[in-house]
Amino acid sequence: MISASKLLKASYHAGKVFFRPPLIEDVSTTAVAVMVPIRSLGPSHTERIAQHLLSLTPADRYLRFGYSANDEQIERYVAGLNFERDEIFGIYNRRLELIAMAHLAFAVEADFTSCAEFGVSVLSHVRGRGYGARLFDRAVMHARNEGVHMMFIHALSENTNMLNIARGAGARVERDGSESDAYLRLPPADLNSRMTEMVEEKVAQTDYQLKVQAHHFWSFLRVMQEVRRGMRDARARTSS
Ligand SMILES: CC(C)(COP(=O)(O)OP(=O)(O)OC[C@H]1O[C@@H](n2cnc3c(N)ncnc32)[C@H](O)[C@@H]1OP(=O)(O)O)[C@@H](O)C(=O)NCCC(=O)NCCS
Repeated sequence: MISASKLLKASYHAGKVFFRPPLIEDVSTTAVAVMVPIRSLGPSHTERIAQHLLSLTPADRYLRFGYSANDEQIERYVAGLNFERDEIFGIYNRRLELIAMAHLAFAVEADFTSCAEFGVSVLSHVRGRGYGARLFDRAVMHARNEGVHMMFIHALSENTNMLNIARGAGARVERDGSESDAYLRLPPADLNSRMTEMVEEKVAQTDYQLKVQAHHFWSFLRVMQEVRRGMRDARARTSS
């Protein structure tokens, strides 16, 4: 688990790099080496969640949902997200694209209230950087703090990346042919898990606000440059 002082240091350093112009893919150039800012997503992020899921390839949709979800099914899934009951986490890059997200769904059946199911997706061009595992850790911490005792992951047996993440966290994996279930028993919440989640969420919210401001700043600068270019061209035309 990342310590609160590391989180604060990461937040400070992240602030310094935001006002550099955005690169093609830039998450790794921020404070990611120290931490990945993962924030909790509310209903105002619905459109970006939909964009993220719709951009998954058919193969990835199959791995994520366990069936070849078409656009309409994804849109229905997004419309049905319950932000009050469940927790949705996301990682944004500096261009405010949702490059990774996870859904922690709390069981609704009275007999299973201490259970939650985890689902995740990371865009293909940023895989292998640990985002999937970090989202998993974040979900584990939140689930513990919410009194969940058992986290559950349903994955296709061919999905070694997902099963590696679950195994790496200590989950028991049971294979049933082409499908596998992973169960992770969670320790109860403690002061450390509560404080770390609080600080991590605060850092991620600040990170997001800085990204929004930087995004607006670069959009504004682009408009100003276009205006200046227009004026220069007009001047050149009248003087020739
Ligand atoms: C599964 C998924 C979320 C993993 O995301 P990720 O950010 O690449 O995951 P991580 O970087 O934390 O890596 C997880 C494991 O996969 C391996 N891995 C991930 N990408 C890899 C790559 N391009 N090459 C080699 N190994 C890779 C890592 O080595 C790691 O295993 P390890 O801990 O034993 O080293 C991502 O592949 C994905 O979105 N897949 C489609 C949707 C899906 O399968 N969702 C899960 C079902 S709910």
